Amino acid sequence: MSAPTGTLAEQIFDRPAAVKQERTKPYRLVVGLPDWTDLSAAIQHLGPEAGNPDVVAVANASTLTELHEKALAHEADVVLLSPLLPGFKESGAELVQRLYHHDPLPIVTLGVVPPGSGDWPQTLHDLGARGHVVGPLREDAVAQLVDLIRAQVPRADQERTSVRHIPYLDRQTAAIVDRGGWQRQTIAVWSAKGGVGKTFLAVNLAVLLGVVANKFTVLVDADMAPGEAHLWLGGVGDRDHTIYQLAQDFASNGNQLTPAMVKPYLAPYQGNLHVLRSVVTPTWGGMPELTRQGAAFTHALLNALQQFADFVVIDPGLSYTHPVPLTALHRADLVLVVVTPAIASPYRLHGALEPLRREMEIDPARFKLVFNRHNPHLGTKRKEVVDVLKLPEFAVLSQDVEDEVDLSQNAQEPLVLRYPKLALTQEVVALATNFYPPLRDIWARYGTRGLRPRSGLGDLLRQVFRRQPRATTA
Ligand SMILES: Nc1ncnc2c1ncn2[C@@H]1O[C@H](COP(=O)(O)OP(=O)(O)OP(=O)(O)O)[C@@H](O)[C@H]1O
Ligand SMILES: [Mg+2]
Repeated sequence: MSAPTGTLAEQIFDRPAAVKQERTKPYRLVVGLPDWTDLSAAIQHLGPEAGNPDVVAVANASTLTELHEKALAHEADVVLLSPLLPGFKESGAELVQRLYHHDPLPIVTLGVVPPGSGDWPQTLHDLGARGHVVGPLREDAVAQLVDLIRAQVPRADQERTSVRHIPYLDRQTAAIVDRGGWQRQTIAVWSAKGGVGKTFLAVNLAVLLGVVANKFTVLVDADMAPGEAHLWLGGVGDRDHTIYQLAQDFASNGNQLTPAMVKPYLAPYQGNLHVLRSVVTPTWGGMPELTRQGAAFTHALLNALQQFADFVVIDPGLSYTHPVPLTALHRADLVLVVVTPAIASPYRLHGALEPLRREMEIDPARFKLVFNRHNPHLGTKRKEVVDVLKLPEFAVLSQDVEDEVDLSQNAQEPLVLRYPKLALTQEVVALATNFYPPLRDIWARYGTRGLRPRSGLGDLLRQVFRRQPRATTA
């Protein structure tokens, strides 16, 4: 790799030098379709002569390699990718990522799928395609395609040129893409004891999946106490868009919730992380929308989120009686049960698991222990805790002795971004890698950056990472 050039910000964040100005030229499309009839139809309906002056098809490709090569050679703004193209299965993910991280400007991928094609739209979405149309590419499908291009290309440009864009997946890293071995999941980080690190872990896990790995991740702060996950994330969101107002919408919409209703409540953090804020006061948590209707609402919420999120990370607080956290525990694919070495922590959990077992099966395949603030000097033996609680160990996170956890909280910047070299950070990364294995390599690359001399960088990093909290009403 050649020596880095440019400003510090560019060195660290690989920020693209060019920014697309007001658009005067048509979007350049490279069409990757195995079907020639479709291909000629697409070309025929695009361009000024066909009444679609905003988009021109500049090339076509019949294999994935060709699509990549032509997209670069023709300085495409967007490619249309069919999953039936030879090479898709082996290299589709890599292509989409490489194109998105193309310098100086991203090349957007849109999909075209055969009608009634089951999982293809989802697969394309998982790979990073920003939308799809259903073939054959007749006039109406082409019109949809043009709309998608008009919406998605500027959006991708904006993301890439935003100061908050962190291209962890740069050119080299883009080669490290989904190699299978992961699945969409809902993960709850729970404990019956307060102050054990539930929120710390939930926030940093969500940041690794959503920001660093760039998978669509929603952090749901379902702590009715109330929660304060947003405080670790620069105060993201506002008090008028919390889980409570969403529950009110659910109630006033005849107990229905669609993804479109949920999305406005998700406050965007960096990358692909979105946050649903907690109630602001315990009083809200006691309102009928979250109590009497709480279980139905939480089911509907998770149903909606699971339609579009890769990962849902829930911080349910310490309750196991309130219907919202209780339903979250029911529904999570995995519950990370946080336990610390202070004896009160396993004691409290032991007391909670018994009544909880009456509510649901505490399946050791679904409930697993995370030992946090682990400190062997305290004498609590992990083996004994595992035996007493009858739950397996999932991970061990050490006690941070230099106060970086609290420092990161006070700086409103997640630990894993602020202190990438810290041993505790490496442990959280290892934990998150269980959910998304490519994170290991992505992190290795990011971690190398973190090892660069940081003198004078602190302020810069803070500036770049800091989000202005949205205006609040109180
Ligand atoms: N591994 C760790 N090393 C050092 N300090 C930690 C560690 N994990 C958490 N902490 C500290 O423990 C405190 C409680 O963490 P956190 O707020 O995440 O706990 P919680 O379980 O969510 O608490 P609550 O029940 O109040 O919601 C915080 O001050 C945090 O900085
Ligand atoms: Mg908490």
